[in-house]
Formats: sequence, structure tokens, C-alpha cells
Amino acid sequence: MWYTLPAEIGTRPITVIGGGTLGRRIALMLSLRGAEIRIFDTNLDVARAAVEFIEQERPAVAASFDGAPAGELTTSDDLAAALRGAWLVVEAVPEKLELKKKIFADLDRLAEPDAILASNSSSFATAEFMDGVNSPERVLNMHFYMPPAARSVELMSSTSTDPRIFDLLTAELPRYALVPHLVREQSTGFIFNRIWAAIKRESLAVVAEGVAEPEDIDALFADLFKADAAPFRFMDQVGLDVVLDIENHYSELEGRPNKVAPLLQEYIDKGWLGVKSGRGFYNDYA
Ligand SMILES: NC(=O)c1ccc[n+]([C@@H]2O[C@H](COP(=O)([O-])OP(=O)(O)OC[C@H]3O[C@@H](n4cnc5c(N)ncnc54)[C@H](O)[C@@H]3O)[C@@H](O)[C@H]2O)c1
Repeated sequence: MWYTLPAEIGTRPITVIGGGTLGRRIALMLSLRGAEIRIFDTNLDVARAAVEFIEQERPAVAASFDGAPAGELTTSDDLAAALRGAWLVVEAVPEKLELKKKIFADLDRLAEPDAILASNSSSFATAEFMDGVNSPERVLNMHFYMPPAARSVELMSSTSTDPRIFDLLTAELPRYALVPHLVREQSTGFIFNRIWAAIKRESLAVVAEGVAEPEDIDALFADLFKADAAPFRFMDQVGLDVVLDIENHYSELEGRPNKVAPLLQEYIDKGWLGVKSGRGFYNDYA
């Protein structure tokens, strides 16, 4: 099917699917050019909380950036209405493959024919949820980290994405205070998460073998890389149960045993999940 790139993108709405942790942060950034931002969430209370979050956080972000005054922020639980006129749709629903497949089939059917359809999935390539999609050339991975604090966005093809979409987004995203990076080949974990996975894995192995304590490794990172986000502090922030799920996913895909699972499981079994449970590798989150 012939695909025409969206036109007049500065004035058309943008729709974010899912207004949770990432959806609301993505919506905040995409509001910086002044267009109408629509948040579609099956839980309208979450969508409304997302709008409150954006209204609260936007002034500080906008102050450091020469953007436009806020456009309208709307919530919806009617997907067709939420998509009408939108040139860009970013999906940020929970990390469940069947759910993503269903949503992308709906988006493909209901969005404007020229709308770009993007997924913020951290571990699934959009190539994995094309079953019900008739125009995969307008679908891509658009992976954010934790905006507004982190503003990098990794762009990866669905394997069929129209290359002009990468040109368009690479030119456009800086207008929303975002920093695009092109993922040049299919890669689980994109660019940074994949590298970070290796760092986490080896850091855990070093502790599991009794070579060092978590504090030693974090201190080395702090000194050598001048980094605040040292591996064990960072894992505590993410949650050790989530770290285990992510590493299980990588080891499954790569067909190797998850050697660091026992150490993580030991902490998880004690209820030491990191910041969210008050204790993880560190015990100073009270
Ligand atoms: N949390 C992170 O640090 C992070 C970082 C980068 C990428 N991601 C990715 O972002 C996505 C969302 O993660 P999150 O942490 O924001 O999740 P979350 O659970 O905080 O938010 C998901 C939202 O989706 C809504 N939802 C569920 N089903 C829906 C549907 N059918 N239609 C519309 N909305 C629906 C839920 O009500 C919820 O508000 C995942 O794919 C995840 O991999 C997360």
C-alpha cells in the first residue's frame, strides 16, 4: 500500500495511548510545541491524573526550552475519537505482547491513513506485533527513557518502516526538547538498554561470586565515570523483581541460563525489592 507522510504536523493533535508512568511523561514532552495532546487510557482516572501531572510539571520543562504555550490537553476512553486528525500516535501500555498486538491492529484500522504509529515498548520490537497491521511502513519503535529528566529517544524500524519517517522524526523531535538516536539494526534492548543489561549482569555476577560488595562497584562507577546512576543504586530504583524479569527475557532470547537469577531471587524472597519496598541492595530508603 502507498503511504503518504503526514503534513501540517505542527498544528495537528498527537495521541498517547496509556497515561501511566511513561505515557504521561511522553505526553508532557510532546506538548512542548503547543499542539493538542490527547491521552487515551482504558482507565479514565489515570488519564486525568496524567493531565494533572503534565499541568504541574510542564512550566519547569517549558522554562528551559523555547517551545510554544501549552495546547489543549484532553482525555478519552473512545479510541476512534482520540485518534481523529492525529499525525502521531505513541503507545505506552503495559508490556504484554498480546495487548500490543491488539492495540496496533486497532490503531492501524482507526488512525488517520497518514498517522505515524509508534511503540514505547522496552523489550518488544514492533516487528513482533504486526499480525493485524496492514500498513507496517508507518509503524516503528520510539523508545523513551524517563523524560523530562532523560530526553533521548531511540528510533527503530518495524523492519518495514518507511525510511522517510526517520528523516521526519529526526528533524522534528528536537522541536520537543528530545534527542533522537537511530537504531540501525534490529536490537533487543535497542542501543542503551542492551549495553546497560550487560553491565548489570556482570555487576551482579561479580557480587554473586563474592568478588566485591555492591557498594564497591557503585563507588568505582562514581569515581571512574563520574556517574550518579551506578549499577546497584539504579537496580534498586528500577525494582529487583523488574530487573529479574528483564534479565530472564534476555537470557531466554539468547538461549543461555540466567546466572544472576539466584542472587536476585535471594533479595526478592526477603521482600527486598529496592526503593519501592524500602530496602534492596541498599538499606537507606526509609
Ligand atoms: N517504566 C519505565 O521505566 C519504562 C521505560 C521505558 C519504556 N517503558 C515502556 O512503556 C510502556 C508502558 O510502561 P509504563 O511503565 O508506563 O506502564 P504503566 O503500567 O505505568 O502504564 C500503562 C497504562 O496503560 C493503560 N492501559 C492498559 N491497557 C490499555 C489499553 N488497552 N488501552 C489504553 N491504555 C491501556 C493502563 O491503565 C496504564 O495507565 C511499556 O511498554 C514499557 O516497556 C517503560
